[in-house]
Amino acid sequence: MKSYRVLCVCLGNICRSPTAEVVLRELAKREQLFLEVDSAGTSNYHPNKAPDLRSQKHALKRGYDLSALRARQIRLQDFCEFDLILAMDYVNLADIQALAEQAKQQYPTEYKAKIALMSEYDTQYLKQAVPDPYYGEAQDFEAVLNQCESSSLAWIEYLKTHDLS
Ligand code: 4NP
Repeated sequence: MKSYRVLCVCLGNICRSPTAEVVLRELAKREQLFLEVDSAGTSNYHPNKAPDLRSQKHALKRGYDLSALRARQIRLQDFCEFDLILAMDYVNLADIQALAEQAKQQYPTEYKAKIALMSEYDTQYLKQAVPDPYYGEAQDFEAVLNQCESSSLAWIEYLKTHDLS
């Protein structure tokens, strides 16, 4: 059976990527695709912090429980352990790509991660960034959820019908 390990990445790992983590995990389960999903931040602004209370509140209204998650920074070893690393926006993507070069140097034989945008194959938000809601309002947190649901379904469909290579 196909199974993949996926790492969702944003800046702080307290708003967008924890949301993406739980939404992708739950929707994959519902769609009977086996995914192991984790999340991380490019920054180390909020180590070990639970997701932002606004993210938790809006997610819970849709049945997604983010409360057990704790923030961490992405590390070079992640590029050896995850099949797919999904960036929430283009700054995250550039930062991840720079780290990937370091990881390839440090772990030339173990490196395996593919890198893409969360919205890479999502026709509704094609290659659009997931906007950072941290300084935003309720509607911005709802928009993150809308986009994470849409892009997760697009990734699930993609992974069911393609091999990661
Ligand atoms: P996230 O949002 O990248 O979606 O987790 C942010 C969280 C914290 C900060 C910025 C963005 N911050 O500057 O502390």
